[in-house]
Amino acid sequence: MMRVGLLGCGNIGHLIAAHAEGFVIAALYDQMPERARELAERSEGTAYDSFEAFAAADVDLVVEAASVGAVRTHGEAVLRAGKDFVVMSVGALADPAFLARLREAAIASGRRVYIPSGAVMGLDNLKIGRIGGIDRLMLRTTKSPASLRLELTERTLVFRGRADECVQAFPKNTNVSAAIALAAGREVEVELWADPAVDRNIHEIFAEGPFGDAYLRIRNVPSPDNPATSYLAALSILVLLRDLGEPIVVGT
Ligand SMILES: NC(=O)c1ccc[n+]([C@@H]2O[C@H](COP(=O)([O-])OP(=O)(O)OC[C@H]3O[C@@H](n4cnc5c(N)ncnc54)[C@H](O)[C@@H]3O)[C@@H](O)[C@H]2O)c1
Repeated sequence: MMRVGLLGCGNIGHLIAAHAEGFVIAALYDQMPERARELAERSEGTAYDSFEAFAAADVDLVVEAASVGAVRTHGEAVLRAGKDFVVMSVGALADPAFLARLREAAIASGRRVYIPSGAVMGLDNLKIGRIGGIDRLMLRTTKSPASLRLELTERTLVFRGRADECVQAFPKNTNVSAAIALAAGREVEVELWADPAVDRNIHEIFAEGPFGDAYLRIRNVPSPDNPATSYLAALSILVLLRDLGEPIVVGT
């Protein structure tokens, strides 16, 4: 059975442990050691206080459900320790220099980095862009002003530009644009709107290319601390883990 190491024992970590089927959580690590210990009791895995000991544990793959900082600090070490790496905090990969280093580490160790679709339903087929090309790719995100820490009474465009510029201005909006850019293999135009009339995060993706055109609209329950958002992300990881062992895999 596949042995999984869990890097990050918060909302998503708990959901993965609660739905472990076809794999075992064999090792756990969190920067707050008591969280790893508490979850270890429920999952029968071993909690480690030191990252080095965790990385050396007998697991096939490490699932990151921690933070952008955790991916940046520990990502290369996970791969060098000979483990595949599932990255949930995909915003970390918006930095091209870091992405290149992670890629080098994966190649050098013969391991792979997996990025689940997470909150972006339909992410997988944007990968056609890397072969057939996508001429126009745009992400329009609409959130409540409160979730952007703004006070506005009317629908307002608060950012328009490239995804990497948006990362600077609104770092919490990076997971979705980074995932889309990585999937399609090209830059994404980003528009961020604040709208007092919405109670969900709306992501609209417009893609146009030789294949035709596509419009995706996803209305997610707001994150970051909302259990329902974590549930969608956790399900996406569970599907990925299941597919790794399946003889027939659906989706691109
Ligand atoms: N890709 C997506 O669509 C998507 C969707 C939801 C969440 N996420 C991301 O997944 C991550 C986890 O989400 P969550 O809801 O479980 O968060 P959470 O805050 O509930 O749990 C994160 C846990 O990781 C630990 N942690 C943070 N940084 C760490 C580090 N450097 N080393 C070790 N442990 C560390 C924290 O102590 C905490 O226990 C977040 O970064 C979130 O942005 C991505």
